[in-house]
Amino acid sequence: MTLRHAIFPVAGLGTRFLPATKALPKEMLPVVDKPLVQYAVEEAYAAGVREMIFVTSRHKRAIEDHFDRTFELEDALERSHKAELLAIVRAVKPDDMECVFVRQAQALGLGHAVLCGRHLVGDNPFAVLLPDDLMIGSPPVLAQMAEQFAERQASIVAVQEVPAEHTRRYGIVGGRAVGERLVDIERIVEKPAPDVAPSRLGVAGRYVLTPRVFDEIAAQPRGVGGEIQLTDGIAGLLRHEKVFAYRYQGRRYDCGSKEGFLQANVELALEHPELGAEFRSYLRGLTL
Ligand code: UTP
Repeated sequence: MTLRHAIFPVAGLGTRFLPATKALPKEMLPVVDKPLVQYAVEEAYAAGVREMIFVTSRHKRAIEDHFDRTFELEDALERSHKAELLAIVRAVKPDDMECVFVRQAQALGLGHAVLCGRHLVGDNPFAVLLPDDLMIGSPPVLAQMAEQFAERQASIVAVQEVPAEHTRRYGIVGGRAVGERLVDIERIVEKPAPDVAPSRLGVAGRYVLTPRVFDEIAAQPRGVGGEIQLTDGIAGLLRHEKVFAYRYQGRRYDCGSKEGFLQANVELALEHPELGAEFRSYLRGLTL
């Protein structure tokens, strides 16, 4: 089974970024010079995914436009011989990449958003990427997970160690270590209090899932916060199949929060080939 499909749930309200997200989708906020959603799409493409499925809502038109051709712009760049910019614009959607948009009419939760992509994924394994978790890894984090999936032929969930006082922010997994980076999951709980959390391994926004999870999500009653949780669907999947947690190699920025978003901008600007050196000396000159 190879990984051809990815679901990008981008239907959330993005309330933590108001007023910026009143008319602009959170996923279109740029980190340095690229919107968050493009980082996630590039990561999926690097893992071999070619069918990108965006679960959107009202006010998310900018995402569709971003992955569409822009003939006037391309024409203008071509005529003014701006070949480098033209290449950047064209690379947003390579020719062998398919983009499909499906609506989630009501924000009923991440599990529900994933279920909205079911008819497009069919009976295939698929990835889920939350674009507000910006992942930097080499190889890219989803490619690391696709390799684990190819080896194990079982669902793989990205995890990282989180501080005890943060367990309430994550899905937390418990299980048996298999080698250095894998955990054979026995339990997964959404946003537990620290004293009942099965471990400190928190789920980050990357998943490779087998299609059976759709049945399990559909069978779930509403979970934490009255939402249909993906975590509960994965807990259901555990009753039938193995699911592994994978400690990814790389860094994660929680760009759904202002702190994480600012950190990503600063750190990626410092690494930027054109901006890095000057930006570093600018930061050094600040009296903090
Ligand atoms: P968040 O919990 O970050 O919610 O969702 P949000 O609405 O985007 O942001 P805040 O908390 O109000 O600021 C995690 C991911 O799940 C998607 C979001 O778009 C985001 O990528 N999501 C969440 C949906 O697509 N549909 C939902 O019903 C809920």
